[in-house]
Amino acid sequence: MKVLIVGGGGREHALAWKLRQDDPTCEIIAAPGNPGIAQLGRCVEIAVTNIPALITLARTERVDFTIVGPEGPLEAGIVDRFRGDGLAIFGPTAAAARIETSKRFAKELMQAAGVPTASARTFTEPGAAKLEARRLGAPVVIKASGIAAGKGVIVAMSLAEAEQAIDAMLVDDAFGAAGAEVLVEEFMQGEELSCFALTDGTHVLPFIAAQDHKRIGEGDTGPNTGGMGAYAPVAIATRDVMRKATQLVFVPTLRAMRDAGCPFTGLLYAGLMLTKDGPKVVEFNCRFGDPETQALLPLMASSLLEPMKAIAQRHTLEPFGPFTWYEGASVTTVVAAAGYPGTIASGDAITEPADDDDVTVFHAGTKRLADGRLVTSGGRVVAVTALGATIAEAQARSAAGAAEVRFEGSQFRRDIGWRELARA
Ligand code: AMP
Ligand code: GLY
Repeated sequence: MKVLIVGGGGREHALAWKLRQDDPTCEIIAAPGNPGIAQLGRCVEIAVTNIPALITLARTERVDFTIVGPEGPLEAGIVDRFRGDGLAIFGPTAAAARIETSKRFAKELMQAAGVPTASARTFTEPGAAKLEARRLGAPVVIKASGIAAGKGVIVAMSLAEAEQAIDAMLVDDAFGAAGAEVLVEEFMQGEELSCFALTDGTHVLPFIAAQDHKRIGEGDTGPNTGGMGAYAPVAIATRDVMRKATQLVFVPTLRAMRDAGCPFTGLLYAGLMLTKDGPKVVEFNCRFGDPETQALLPLMASSLLEPMKAIAQRHTLEPFGPFTWYEGASVTTVVAAAGYPGTIASGDAITEPADDDDVTVFHAGTKRLADGRLVTSGGRVVAVTALGATIAEAQARSAAGAAEVRFEGSQFRRDIGWRELARA
């Protein structure tokens, strides 16, 4: 088996690691990959959006299939182009990726299919958007419809803040084309869950739920980040909640995508909020989450390779039974560069910690210099995943592992999984 992984973050390292667990003879090629993935396979310096070069690579290497990590190349149509050239690839087409890349598309699809989500309306005109915000009253949520590097959602606690956000998007073009349409959305309250499912367009193989930690500071304080840690399993993701996620969210959403002429294949990520009226969709992503993937895959007992290959080769998931999971808990702690999520320092030497049976270090923003030294090269530098019998044990191991990843100004949260511990 030979697989090309497109991407170079912690999520892609975790995918490579899991494929090698499932099949130790699986050959991994990554573009561009990272120094962690380089320990499991071969990295080729091609940008994730250089689709022609990726097609040439997949073809000359005769890979069995390609896996796409990030949303950028999916939005750019990598799946359409690979399939057009007869190459097997895991991920949605550009039209199906709109479930993430256009919040307007996602919202209209959910509304039409009756999928529970916050009510929202879309505007291109600031005056009308502000009237709607006033009608709903604060708190109210203002969202840029397109992909805005995780910064396009403003949970406005006052009307003034909402109006400022509307002006930034529709008048000042602060988010470029992504903010040319805005959603003015009802504010929801509750805990959030990241729910993933593999799908062939019809059948779903749900994962257990994980919980992300988006704020930089302990206790969920300070600015938003790409995600500072994640854990699984999550006690509030009961059987009933997971059944609702499948029956009220995944199944009708996939049916609506088929009906819209853009069946979704790959990994569908539903960000849910557990409101007092039940689970509601906050957002969809058209790809694996980062860092949830790094927390989930080490707990996964079933093969991920086999169903991913089936989806890439456009076979049905019907023969696959539900995924099975190891006992115990997993906690992933992200170690970020100095300054993150603002302007970051890079090029700082990293002392490499060693993996052990229960602790795995997934690389993200790291770079190997010609002289062999490992240095920082991005905001989220590594993700340290630890397993344990309990969340408390996994958290302690994960934090201890994160503390061993030493570089100038490193920062990480010691409290990943705190909500779960507070419940226990
Ligand atoms: P998104 O990029 O859509 O995931 O939004 C980022 C974050 O904003 C979510 O994880 C939520 O914490 C928050 N958020 C988004 N939509 C809402 C909403 N309707 N009500 C309350 N919080 C929201
Ligand atoms: N962890 C959130 C995301 O991957 O979008």
